[in-house]
Formats: sequence, structure tokens, C-alpha cells
Amino acid sequence: MGLLIKNIKCLVQTEEHPRQRVCGGEMARITNIPDAFLLIEGDRISDYGPMEKCPADPRISGTVADVIDAGGKMVFPSFCDPHTHLVYSGSREQEFSDRIRGLSYEEIAKRGGGILNSAKKLRETSEDGLYEQSMVRVREIISLGTGAVEIKSGYGLNTADELKMLRVIKRIRDNTALEVRATFLGAHAIPAEFRNSREKYIDLVINEMIPEVAEQKLADFIDVFCDEGFFTVEETERILSAGLKYGLRPKIHANELGFSGGVQTGVKYGALSVDHLERSGEQEIAVLSGTGTMPTLLPGSALFLGLPEPQARKMIDSGLPVALASDFNPGSCPSGNMKLIMSLACIRLKMLPEEAINAVTINSAYAMGLSGSHGSIARGKAANVFITKEIPSYGFMPYAFGSNLVETVILKGKRII
Ligand code: NIG
Ligand code: FE
Repeated sequence: MGLLIKNIKCLVQTEEHPRQRVCGGEMARITNIPDAFLLIEGDRISDYGPMEKCPADPRISGTVADVIDAGGKMVFPSFCDPHTHLVYSGSREQEFSDRIRGLSYEEIAKRGGGILNSAKKLRETSEDGLYEQSMVRVREIISLGTGAVEIKSGYGLNTADELKMLRVIKRIRDNTALEVRATFLGAHAIPAEFRNSREKYIDLVINEMIPEVAEQKLADFIDVFCDEGFFTVEETERILSAGLKYGLRPKIHANELGFSGGVQTGVKYGALSVDHLERSGEQEIAVLSGTGTMPTLLPGSALFLGLPEPQARKMIDSGLPVALASDFNPGSCPSGNMKLIMSLACIRLKMLPEEAINAVTINSAYAMGLSGSHGSIARGKAANVFITKEIPSYGFMPYAFGSNLVETVILKGKRII
């Protein structure tokens, strides 16, 4: 069965010659087709173009196609969200109040709150319960236009519970239309029981967790929270080296809380992305230049925690690519709304709407190893798109920051919403 979407007011982010990522000044350009059609066969985009080239007979490969008339509405490639922790248990609004009263994220973490608070809740939750709680968030992000998502472990902090999280991620991958990538983040925090013997925990990550995760093929990537108060550069290097032996490419948390050396470490180990970067300057930009490592910015966390804004402008003006992600997690960004992330990038990071669109599609697909198949409207790419409500222009998406403007969701060629 095929699907034809016709009379599209504007087909956004089309690519005749798909690129792996978009850098520097190129980020301010997107290619759109006004008054367009989009043809889907199976789970792939088979054709697109201006309405005058639209197939008159909506029969595709001999079968009658569904036809959607998108008059007045726009079609975007689904958002790709390359950094989330959306598998978690419960929530942490008490810490939200504590921060309003003046405590910092680091102070809350030192008191056993933060990541350790989520680890406690997760360990007490059954695998089925964790799946059900996570699926509420999965359904929400699908309705908000996300079509591909990276999800991390990191609230288990022991072998059994890290594996439990990764199995839940696999279940989401197997049971939903989302494209899912899994990242092992055993080195998210030192668990309370290892407070006085952190090397023992790092040994456990290296000698037990990584081999087990790799053996069970539960992760695509490896992550370390390389930052002040969490994991040092030396510890990060040991863990990344161990992961690389098993083919786990790094995607790391870096420079959120301090100039941690995380960006340099990520580049040194060939990370696909270095994420956060609220604390970064000329040196970090220089080290990223000319590499395959994608700086991935998380403006939702910077907003929620009141952190300095990552220097998106300087990065783009220096010729770097930039990707955006939600960081959906209970501690620093309890939202997976990628349209809101685009708005924050425009309002607070001074990214142009076109730059933000590139950063939530092609570049964010790159940051999870998916830009060959996702992140733009191109023949042969996955048919993951959404149709907006009636809107005046594509720039209205980041502009109207509080409204959900996603009306129809098509994932893997099937209409989900
Ligand atoms: O990306 N920085 C580390 N990890 C998450 C927060 C995790 C949490 O607070 O639960 C982040 O911000
Ligand atoms: Fe994160």
C-alpha cells in the first residue's frame, strides 16, 4: 500500500543529493518545495516534487494508494532526537523546588539526589513497570513529531539494572514505529554503595557491564558523564577504550558543569557526538574543527538548570555543524519536545530558524548515525514525516513556541496519528 500526500503548502528540507551533515554557513539554508507532493511506498519515500509533476492516478505499484490532501499545511521530515534518557522511573519535582530555593544541581547530587535519586526509583521498579512508564513518554514524543530517538541507560548503576534499562530500550525499538538507538551509560554517576571506592565501580563498568552489554547486543553507543563531580578525563578514557574494543562508538556528556576536557577526550576517541557544551570556548571549538564529532547542544537543560547557554553562534560562525537534542530526563530536562528545543535554540542560542531546522533533522540524525536514512525528504530515505496544522510559513514552527503544530504523523510509511 502506498501513500500520496498532495497539495502540500511547503515540503520542507528536501535533498536531491543527501548530505551526511550540514556545517557552518550552509546551516542557514534549507531547500523547500512550495505546492508539492510526496509519494511513499512501503516504508520509504519514493518520490516528491512540485504538484505539476504529481502522479495523476494514485495507484502505486498496482495498488491503490491512500491520498492525503495537505492543503494549507506543511510537511517536515520527522525530528531526530539524538540524546535522551527517557527510560526512567518516577519524577523529581522535589529537586525542582530545591533548585528554586537556591540549591545547585551539583549540591543536590552531592546529597544523594539527582541521578542517584532516579537510580533508587529505577531499581525499585519492575521491568514491565519501567516499560509502561517510558511508553507514556514515547507516545508523547511521537505526537510531537519525533521519528528517531537515542535513549541512554545510566539509572541502573549496577549490571542487572543497566541491562534491565537496555532491554526496555530494545522493547521500545521492537514495539514502536520510532527508529531507536541505544547508548550504554553505566558511567553516569558513582552509585552510593561505591562512594568510597570509585575505582571498583569503574572496574565493574569495564570488566562486567561493557562485556555483558556487548555480548547481548543491547547498545549501539557508549557514553560517559565526563564532567566536574562525575567522571574525570582519565576515567573516561579507560571506559571509552574498553567500549571501543567491543565496537561501541562514544557519544559523550561533556562540559555541562565545567571545562572538563570532555570535548577534547571525545574528539580523541572519535566520538560521534559530544553533548551539552555549556562550558566551552575557543579551545573546544578549535579541537572540534575538521573532525567527524558533532557538537550536540541541549538548550532545554541549559534553560531548566539555569546554565550558561552553549555558544552555538560561535560554533556555526567558525564553520562547525551543530545538532540539537532534548536530553529528555527527570533531572535536567523533563521534556522531549523537539519543537520547543528548536524555539529555545532560536531565542536563546540565536540560531536562525533554518539553522535550527538543520540541527533537528540532518545534523541530529548524524549524531545518532542515521543521516544516511533519516533527517531529510530524499528518495529512498525512511518515510518518517509529519504534516503540520495550517501554518503561514516554516518559520512559524520555532516562532509559535507554545503550540503543538504537528497534526498528522507518518512513521515507516504508516500513518500513526
Ligand atoms: O544530560 N548530565 C547528565 N545527565 C543528564 C541528567 C541526568 C539527571 O539529572 O537525571 C543530563 O543533563
Ligand atoms: Fe544527558
